[in-house]
Amino acid sequence: MTRQADKPFLYAVVCAAGIAADVSKLITAAQERHWEVGVLATPVAMDGFFDTAAVEAQTGRPIRSAWRRPGDARPFPPPDAVVVAPATFNTLNKWAAGLADTLAVATLCEASGLGVPIAVLPCVADALAAHPAYRDSLTRLRGMGVRFGERYSGEPDEDGRRPEFGWERALDLLEAA
Ligand SMILES: Cc1cc2nc3c(=O)[nH]c(=O)nc-3n(C[C@H](O)[C@H](O)[C@H](O)COP(=O)(O)O)c2cc1C
Repeated sequence: MTRQADKPFLYAVVCAAGIAADVSKLITAAQERHWEVGVLATPVAMDGFFDTAAVEAQTGRPIRSAWRRPGDARPFPPPDAVVVAPATFNTLNKWAAGLADTLAVATLCEASGLGVPIAVLPCVADALAAHPAYRDSLTRLRGMGVRFGERYSGEPDEDGRRPEFGWERALDLLEAA
């Protein structure tokens, strides 16, 4: 797809959390705010967590999940900003530790090293958020300048309703700087 030169390019990193099924809401909101969007997904997220064909149609680009082959052209332009939504326990801990075993985590490690603005919406259950590794990861990533929205646990409220994920929070975090 031809690059729309007048628009900044946003990488949307999608991890394997149930809420990823609604990621089209993030893409729509970003496009309405004049971002051009390219989606990177973890390999687990590609395996049934969201409608990959619909997302490719919405962005007009293939989803990136695996490394390109040596000699292949770079499929996406460099990012002007990155959002990670939803961000899983697994990906956040690997990113903080520098364990770049997926393209998504490797891209996050590189983007934070380059100083690209990054906004994260964690989707992590209370039990996992209590793990000391998670707390340490957040402290480390915040120290690297990464911006975090409030954690979404997915727990229903007193009336049995799950709260809205609030996808636009990621874009608000980018614009707040
Ligand atoms: C239906 C389903 C929903 C899940 N939701 C979450 C979630 O909200 N948050 C989370 O951290 N992990 C969740 N997981 C577990 C992750 O998918 C698992 O840890 C996976 O290894 C994460 O891979 P990734 O970080 O590379 O995307 C869920 C798993 C399943 C099967």
